[in-house]
Amino acid sequence: MSTSNSSMSGLYLYVFIGLFLILLSCTKVYALENKAQHDERLRINFYQSSCPNAESIARQTLLSNLLLDPTAPAALLRLVFHDCQVQGCDGSILLQSTSSITSELVSERNFGIRRLDFIDRIKAALEAACPNTVSCADIIVMAASNSVAIAGGPNIPIETGRRDTRFSSNLMADKELPSATISVSDLLQIGGTKGLDTGDSVAILGAHTLGVGHCINFANRLQPQDPSLSPPLAAALNLICRLPAPATNLTFAANDLTNLIFDNQYFRDLQGGRGLLTIDSELMKDPRTQGFVNRFAADQNFFFQKFSEAFVKLTRSNVLTGTQGEIRNNCKAVN
Ligand code: HEM
Ligand SMILES: *[C@@H]1O[C@H](CO)[C@@H](O)[C@H](O)[C@H]1NC(C)=O
Repeated sequence: MSTSNSSMSGLYLYVFIGLFLILLSCTKVYALENKAQHDERLRINFYQSSCPNAESIARQTLLSNLLLDPTAPAALLRLVFHDCQVQGCDGSILLQSTSSITSELVSERNFGIRRLDFIDRIKAALEAACPNTVSCADIIVMAASNSVAIAGGPNIPIETGRRDTRFSSNLMADKELPSATISVSDLLQIGGTKGLDTGDSVAILGAHTLGVGHCINFANRLQPQDPSLSPPLAAALNLICRLPAPATNLTFAANDLTNLIFDNQYFRDLQGGRGLLTIDSELMKDPRTQGFVNRFAADQNFFFQKFSEAFVKLTRSNVLTGTQGEIRNNCKAVN
């Protein structure tokens, strides 16, 4: 009786300990979930406690390297679009090919992506200050928003807290990155998947106020000559591109008349038939987008406001947060 009693109380003890452990693990899971929920949202100043100077380091490093190439802001602004457009803003575009993944840069659609060395320098400065803390995905977004501000555009307060993917695929880049001859309908559809309405989609394409396009990306408008292209620009582009010739990968033209400055000149150029790419000129022709082109051309503040909103939407969509993905030590390779 006493043996059975003690084995019974032993059993109770086990049951009790078992229940206790289950309870404990529940609170633990609950606490973890709470933390994950807390960290899972992007937020302004995500690195406030983990790396208080992250944003100023990112900005200073970009600024101090600008002398190397004053056209770098254009490259970095395009980079954020090409990162975010494929799998979301997760640093996928920076991964180099290995046995298991293929770099997105292999995709023809990434032709012209440049100045990744700027990202490397910003990452190096941030690793020196705060090892293993700031994601490559966030670095791309910070570099792009700083580029806009440095070039004279709006100061866009950006959220951070993105994490880096462990995967990339050139085939996904082929599929997701739009070609220069995309239709307005497809442009609006792509924007729609990221919560961009028509005005946002027109505004975000105002990024083409910076930088260049290579002849390979607009040669379709020269032979045969696109009647919506202004004749003086067509003549200039024909000279630059020297068609027909196989050098269209090397030759390039400015995206707008003031392509080092982030302003609303792009929209005034569209009004004058001076859009460089097919999609640029389509914005002026399509009744859904033409009104926004005219409003942005007339009111730079309105353009800046809509561009800022669209930029935040673009860089918020489909991101890894919380415990997803990782913080890469080296932006070119998974840890
Ligand atoms: C959705 C439709 C878009 C299409 C079809 C498109 C296409 C292109 C093409 C073909 C080029 C020329 C690349 C070269 O030849 O070197 C280019 C350049 C550029 N794009 Fe876009 N783009 C789009 C949207 C965007 C967005 C959303 C952004 C930024 C938020 C952006 C920013 C830029 C910048 C800044 C350049 C100049 C890059 C440089 O100078 O290196 N584009 N784009
Ligand atoms: C030009 O660039 C395109 C797109 O990346 C590529 O497919 C093609 O092979 C390049 N041509 C030359 C001559 O390098």
